[in-house]
Amino acid sequence: MAYSGGLDTSVILKLMQEKLGAEVITVTVDVGQKDDFKAVEEKAYKFGAVEHHTIDAKEEFADKYVSQAIKANGLYEKFYPLATALARPLIVEKLVDVAKKEGASVIAHGCTGKGNDQVRFNLGIKALAPEIEIIQPVMEWELSRDWEMSYAKKHGIPVSEKIYSIDENIWGRSIEGGILEDPFAEPPEDIFEWTVSPLQAPDEPEYVTIEFHEGVPVALNGEPMKLLDLVVKLNEIAGKHGVGRIDHIEDRTVGIKSREIYEAPAASVLIKAHYDLEKLVLTKWLLEFKELVDSKWSWLVYSGLWYEPLREALDSFINEAERAVNGTVKVKLWKGNATVVGRESGNALYSKEIATYEKFSTFEQKLAKGFMELFGMQSVAAYNVRARTLPESDSAKDVAVAIKG
Ligand code: ARG
Repeated sequence: MAYSGGLDTSVILKLMQEKLGAEVITVTVDVGQKDDFKAVEEKAYKFGAVEHHTIDAKEEFADKYVSQAIKANGLYEKFYPLATALARPLIVEKLVDVAKKEGASVIAHGCTGKGNDQVRFNLGIKALAPEIEIIQPVMEWELSRDWEMSYAKKHGIPVSEKIYSIDENIWGRSIEGGILEDPFAEPPEDIFEWTVSPLQAPDEPEYVTIEFHEGVPVALNGEPMKLLDLVVKLNEIAGKHGVGRIDHIEDRTVGIKSREIYEAPAASVLIKAHYDLEKLVLTKWLLEFKELVDSKWSWLVYSGLWYEPLREALDSFINEAERAVNGTVKVKLWKGNATVVGRESGNALYSKEIATYEKFSTFEQKLAKGFMELFGMQSVAAYNVRARTLPESDSAKDVAVAIKG
């Protein structure tokens, strides 16, 4: 059973024993959530787990998943850096590993029937271990929060009276529920833990430089470091400047529109910096096409289709494109904003000699005349043809106005 020690998983740990007579092995995967894993383990044993596994997967998460999300500028519906969605396939992999090693016949998890995580868990488990049965007690047994709270009290399971549903990993923190379910209500300050209010942020801006190798950050402020360390450090630096708060209306896979709040300081900075560098080094055609690939990739990851072959095929495209994405980006952090203020690369397609407005330029301006003539030929001709042939078209109206005038 996937176990976090929260209300849902604590209750179903007990219920699995009570209702099904199950021997439950609990698994907690550390992807950077700020939990006391020792306490989680103790809680699992206290409430009847026959065995507990805590698996530190932070580095693997950074190197295999976060790195690819950066290369793909991974954002769902343009805003959500996919933190929760991205970690699910790795959690599933670890869960299935334990299940296979221990010879478990069932995998249980605490997802409701209303979210995306159930899709991610179930499709992942089915792909990796089709022989294992999945039990989803919160959905199947229709457990409500109120019922769970009273059941927990009855069985002496300690639970916090938290209003919000929170999920965390190094790539971001998501907050749902309570007052946030009113999409017109401004998020209260007390939901934020990784970012300060821009009002409390330092008055002086802070600059960071990020060096990329083949699309992946490899150094922060000139200091080479592992991606995991870089992300953790940048969460702290950018969070201190109030960077990375996201307020988002989101389409869940099951069709529900939901209001989501995220804190993702490092993700916000890194995706912005990475995309900026791509614009410096990739051709306009590659950039244009990659945008389609990036958004499809993000959609697949969000939708729980990590194991869909299209995702792997898109990864191949992305990895090929990223070979040229080497260089350094300078970002200014200030009062809730991360602004790219400089970029450089040995692969830059930008050329000052070509772009300059100064007298000496290698760009032959005179060629522009013929270029414009040919480039716009069809569009200009069509506008005039439509004026004659389609009386309701904008072009016909423009011509009528011109004649009257
Ligand atoms: N809406 C996000 C997603 O589907 C985050 C969900 C996080 N889960 C939670 N229980 N807060 O990926």
